[in-house]
Amino acid sequence: MLWILCLALCSLLTPTRADPGALLRLGMDVLNREVQNAMDESHILEKMAAEAGQNHPGMKPIKGITDLKVKDVLVPVITMNFMPGVGIFQCVSTGMTITGKSFMGGNMEIIVVLNITATNWLLQDEETGLPMFKSEGCEVILVSVKTNLPSNMLPKMVNKFLDSTLHKVLPGLMCPAIDAVLVYVNKKWASLNAPMPVGQMGTVQYVLTSVPTTTPSYIQVDFSPVVQQQKGNTIQLADAGGAEFPEDYAEGSSQLLLSAAFLTAELALLQKSFNVKVKDTMIGELPPQTTVTLAGFIPKVAEAYPKPKPLVTQIRINKPPKVTMKTGKSLLHLHGTLEMFAARRRDKPPVSLFVLETHFNLKIQYSVHEDRLQMTTSLDRLLSMSRKSSSIGPFKEKKLTGFITDFLQEAYIPVINDVLQVGFPLPDLL
Ligand SMILES: *[C@@H]1O[C@H](CO)[C@@H](O)[C@H](O)[C@H]1NC(C)=O
Repeated sequence: MLWILCLALCSLLTPTRADPGALLRLGMDVLNREVQNAMDESHILEKMAAEAGQNHPGMKPIKGITDLKVKDVLVPVITMNFMPGVGIFQCVSTGMTITGKSFMGGNMEIIVVLNITATNWLLQDEETGLPMFKSEGCEVILVSVKTNLPSNMLPKMVNKFLDSTLHKVLPGLMCPAIDAVLVYVNKKWASLNAPMPVGQMGTVQYVLTSVPTTTPSYIQVDFSPVVQQQKGNTIQLADAGGAEFPEDYAEGSSQLLLSAAFLTAELALLQKSFNVKVKDTMIGELPPQTTVTLAGFIPKVAEAYPKPKPLVTQIRINKPPKVTMKTGKSLLHLHGTLEMFAARRRDKPPVSLFVLETHFNLKIQYSVHEDRLQMTTSLDRLLSMSRKSSSIGPFKEKKLTGFITDFLQEAYIPVINDVLQVGFPLPDLL
């Protein structure tokens, strides 16, 4: 869920060349939020406090101090940095209060602030082939120590306490906090592999191409997505050139790049749903869809149908839909036939007036909703129209351009947008 937010914020779908597949750049924004989630969900703080309150073998009693207790563990603040080629350097800053009774009978309090640091290697799990973070070299660094002990006994007492106790005990106490975060993040990698449904039409699976790589400002994840029809047929992604991220993005932000080839494969799942038969006579602002209106463009229609008859329009998309992208503009190309019929009385089938071979473009607008990529389209251009057959004799197709353009915009595009509402799943990662 988390990275989706980011995706929306960064308007990541800037169209550029990236074929085939999908690329994800995980920035610190995603990782920081993810770690925050991990902390909330894994109850690290509570665990640290519970662990701290227990007796530990290394926790030697200090001469003159009794009733030693750890309390008030501070909410850890986690900071991370990318280590190119390695993974992430993680630092957990936290603190706690250690209480006890001094030999003079007074209450003793030591407030320690500390950093726990570790290197999280980004590796490949040998069994599953999935990426995984593994922490190494967990260290505890004391940032500050404050106590209410009389100052004359402070250095000796405290140093002894720190040496004998904190340095030995704290790593065992605190380092699991680092691991708890990683367990949570690693689970996310595991859920990547699952095929995700596109309505009833098929599935999309984000298969990793290779182990993600770490750079100074992001982790790059390459996908070779698999698009499958419900029947199990895999739709091949066309291969066309390399990937290119837009240059202008906020530092630390995450980006997702989806190729035109990938979107084309996803839209192939919906091709059949783009075949539409429109029977309504009144559509939006359009003039009535009748032979009378049509006769205004092709006079021959009036000769064949002196009395007005409702029109029925059938659009069949007969080539897989294709997405093209240029900076700032993404288009959906549709090739198919548009057949217009004159309806007859109820018991008789409509009569075909003509069939036009058509090619038109829709402009695509992208948005992200929940964990899905949403598209809405509007008519860009009717590119070509040629007569394949006609029962009313030859006519100039050009005369119909305005009529058909309006029809596509008002009657057909809303149906397409309805079909597109199914949305395409985005990688379930972070
Ligand atoms: C402890 O961690 C904080 C936050 O990363 C950092 O600013 C500080 O310099 C660290 N202190 C020490 C002593 O390492």
